Amino acid sequence: MESFDIAVIGAGAAGMMCAAVAGQRGARVVLIDHSPRLAEKIRISGGGRCNFTNLQAGPVNFLSANPHFCRSALARYTPRDFLALLKSHRISWHEKHRGQLFCDHSSESIIDMLKAECETGRVAWRRPVTVQAVRRSEAGVFALETSGGELAARALIIATGGLSIPKIGATDFAYRLGKQFGHKLVDTRPALVPLTFTSEEWAPFSALAGVSLEVEVSAGAKRAQGSFVEDLLFTHRGLSGPGVLQISSYWQSGEPIVIDLLPGRDAAVELLEAKADGNKRQIGNLLGQWLPARLAHAWLDTHDVSAEARLTDLSDKSLRRLGEAFSRWVLTPSGTEGYRKAEVTKGGVDTRELSSTTMMSARVPGLYFIGEAVDVTGWLGGYNFQWAWASGVAAGEAA
Ligand code: FDA
Repeated sequence: MESFDIAVIGAGAAGMMCAAVAGQRGARVVLIDHSPRLAEKIRISGGGRCNFTNLQAGPVNFLSANPHFCRSALARYTPRDFLALLKSHRISWHEKHRGQLFCDHSSESIIDMLKAECETGRVAWRRPVTVQAVRRSEAGVFALETSGGELAARALIIATGGLSIPKIGATDFAYRLGKQFGHKLVDTRPALVPLTFTSEEWAPFSALAGVSLEVEVSAGAKRAQGSFVEDLLFTHRGLSGPGVLQISSYWQSGEPIVIDLLPGRDAAVELLEAKADGNKRQIGNLLGQWLPARLAHAWLDTHDVSAEARLTDLSDKSLRRLGEAFSRWVLTPSGTEGYRKAEVTKGGVDTRELSSTTMMSARVPGLYFIGEAVDVTGWLGGYNFQWAWASGVAAGEAA
């Protein structure tokens, strides 16, 4: 049986970073992945340019049943550290929006960089290889039965990610292995995912597919927590776009979401002022200044107001009510587009049984969980990769 210091299962963002760091510290590392294509999620991320970090990344940008868990790793490996690594590989980048950093050229350059870092750490690759069984001896050595033969290692690092996009190799391996070793799981569900509505509820809006606009969208009772001013995109089956993807991570099944169609302004006050000024425009026309006209008309239709009605024909009471509804459009999604379309998985291996400095299991010495496999879910905008890098480095330095 071949023997290593460390076996890392999953050669995605977290696994490659971790293997490279551990290898460069002098450990003999083997990196195992079942997928024939390396790091497919990095490749397709950010529209092929990989939104690899966010300059503002901090604990507040992550959801977890144990919200402080991510603090230590994020503080010890920051976006600036990752930028220094990019610089040493001469990879150029740019900031797109609110601290989101993208490669100038292609996400392939991030994969090449991580491969080169693994090379420097003399990491041994086993790929494509499936892991059929894992046992731990009384002496604390992990024995891995794989499609490429048996391996042994004194430390085992699980970096197999979450459940999103099964067609490119996502599996529940981390959760099954966690359970095998007595770990608790926080319920998993698709996150950063488009929301859907029943065909009946969506009928008035389905023809708007492709329409997008900036809104404030919030979910749940804790509106202040889960609230984002970002673009919303109409789809044939519901809503997508950055604002809706963000809020999907906070949304609970059965609950409504609330959309402010005129963020930062008071629609009721503005409608009443326009009427007081003697404005005789049709209401559909006026709302069409604030929204794409087709949306304004469909929205008025579902609120039983004729788009042709003139402002001066509407009572103050109905204008106020209309303005309030405009600033607080309440919709109850029937579901999400699921793991097929979700960027990440919310939930995962419960971090209350992991060390926040090393990512090691409190139950099983030598066993580590990193990246998306654990119950740490970032906002949209480079945060999830920053967690993959930071948790990978934490385990790579400790194992
Ligand atoms: P990741 O999923 O990257 O890697 C897991 C690895 O484990 C894979 O290589 C897989 O093949 C392997 N594996 C799984 N099961 C296995 C098994 N049973 N045996 C062996 N190997 C196994 N984030 C961000 O910050 N910025 C962005 O721009 C984007 N964009 C984006 C676009 C799309 C379409 C998606 C789906 C996701 C994103 N993300 C993102 C999220 C980001 O890709 C994700 O959070 C990280 O890749 C997670 O890194 P991990 O290494 O934990 O898992």
